[in-house]
Amino acid sequence: MPLNLFHEPPEPSIEPLVDGVALLRAFCRDDAPILLDSITNVASASPFRQMVVPSGHTMSVGMTNCGDLGWTTDRTGYRYTAHDPVTGKPWPPMPSALLDLAQRAANAAGFPTFTSNACLINQYAIGARLSLHQDKNEQDYTHPIVSVSLGLPATFLLGTLHRSDTPRRIRIEHGDVLVWGGPARLIYHGVAPITAGEHPLTGPFRINLTFRRVAI
Ligand code: SIN
Ligand code: FE2
Repeated sequence: MPLNLFHEPPEPSIEPLVDGVALLRAFCRDDAPILLDSITNVASASPFRQMVVPSGHTMSVGMTNCGDLGWTTDRTGYRYTAHDPVTGKPWPPMPSALLDLAQRAANAAGFPTFTSNACLINQYAIGARLSLHQDKNEQDYTHPIVSVSLGLPATFLLGTLHRSDTPRRIRIEHGDVLVWGGPARLIYHGVAPITAGEHPLTGPFRINLTFRRVAI
């Protein structure tokens, strides 16, 4: 095999970024094909859709969910629901490969008791972005957020607990998992517009899974 010094894939590693935030580089790179198959199955039952936020703006990111509860937004606000408002059916159950990955990643980042009951799946086309926000509809902040990235790379905006602080820009690649919890559970975060590219497994898309534990 020719030695390619410029595109050597990173070895799996754990980088603590700030207190409560860990970047698990390449943590799920080898599981990506099965994860993507699972996501395709979820999306065939509950398709990706661009949701509307209370201001009336349509999000650039396509979203769906799996698990007991799914995150949605419309003109009336943000919430978790047991049913997909598009299909009227329960969100698809969380595939075991996803549930298992979320648990392993949380454990590796120091949150051994995490069991996710809600997974938001984000599909970013070229140019899609997510503005700075906190994940705060879960009503229980004792559990972390486990965020899995597949496909095209992204610049993750890692803020602080204060919206006005300038976020750090962190390059996130296929197979990376970012976990934030404890003192960092309510950090502001977002994603800069995805730049043009083509990934062997996802084509012109980035897929992100965010696993949460929502109080029932
Ligand atoms: C999110 O905050 O829900 C998604 C973050 C990401 O796509 O990396
Ligand atoms: Fe978020």
